[in-house]
Amino acid sequence: MTRLLTLLLGLLLGLATPGPTRATADPPESALTAPTTAGTSRAASQAVPVPAVPQLPNLHRLPGDLLSGGLPADEAAFRELQQLGVKTVISVDGAPPDVSLAERFGMRYVHLPIGYDGVPPRRARELAQAVTTLPRPIYFHCHHGKHRSPAAAVVACIATGSVAPAAAQATLEQMGTDPHYVGLYQAARRAEPLPSDEQAEKTFTLPSRVAPPPLVEVMLEIERLRDRLAHQLARWERDASRGQPNRKDAPRDGSRLALLLQEQLVEMQRLQTSSFASSAEAPGGEELLTQSIQHAAALKTAWQKAAPAGPTKQLRSAWQRVQHDCRACHRRFRDPPP
Ligand code: HEC
Repeated sequence: MTRLLTLLLGLLLGLATPGPTRATADPPESALTAPTTAGTSRAASQAVPVPAVPQLPNLHRLPGDLLSGGLPADEAAFRELQQLGVKTVISVDGAPPDVSLAERFGMRYVHLPIGYDGVPPRRARELAQAVTTLPRPIYFHCHHGKHRSPAAAVVACIATGSVAPAAAQATLEQMGTDPHYVGLYQAARRAEPLPSDEQAEKTFTLPSRVAPPPLVEVMLEIERLRDRLAHQLARWERDASRGQPNRKDAPRDGSRLALLLQEQLVEMQRLQTSSFASSAEAPGGEELLTQSIQHAAALKTAWQKAAPAGPTKQLRSAWQRVQHDCRACHRRFRDPPP
């Protein structure tokens, strides 16, 4: 977890329901597991891309009857999973999964969320237990299926012996995991096969649904708002390019969504105030957040002012700034390995 999050921990532990969220009380990882460098110890990718299934983005097969991909968002996606014979679905996304939808298709859900900063050792053992003890084929997913689910699936494959540790790097690369997520690559490279007597043990209770901690909940709402804003803007751009820009509701809808985004960022500030205010350990964190709030407010104004001719240059650059803020804060406070 990042420094910012460590700061938040006391706060979050106080608010979040107890349970197997992010494993924090684990022993440090073994010092013997140095990262592999390119060259001799590197083996070929073990992932095989599955040709386009629109409902299951970035679908890949892994040895041991495993699959990895994006969120199965609706019935059509679960029908595809059924076609693939999937019996168990493992979500490593922060968002609680739709357990009853999966049950309608005769599948069991297991929810073992991870962040973008790595796979904590306890989580790795839970993933390994899930893979060894639950019916296969098993489908791993996060949101887009590119970063967290490949990392979790590869860690589980290595722990259970179906992928050689030397193939970790190439397998993640094959699945499109961004090299920027150093913690996810590190987790895969450092994963070790579990002794076989440990693999069969049912040490952990595997939950079907875990409530997100407050900060993750705010982020998931922010992500939904970002997606809706992107959709609104794309639609308006398309209408404008066809000479039909005068959609009366576009500025109103866009500015309303931007206001909701601003409110969620303020909510994040409220969650953080106590730990931030008293600490000099997260320099720049509060400034970044204040700036994000200002940029969301500017986006709201730019939407209001954009009518009726269609999206303006101001609206486009306000939108760029908002998206830039997401990346800037994540790169500093969310993604680096602990
Ligand atoms: C000022 C900092 C900051 C800004 C700005 C920010 N985020 Fe985040 N975001 C975080 C942190 C920190 C986490 C990690 C939370 C955790 O795992 O406890 C996070 C996590 C997330 C997650 C992962 C949730 C999960 O499944 O665990 C998503 C998605 C996300 N942010 C989307 C966004 C989007 C989209 C934007 C921009 C519109 C944005 N964030 C802006 C700090 C920020």
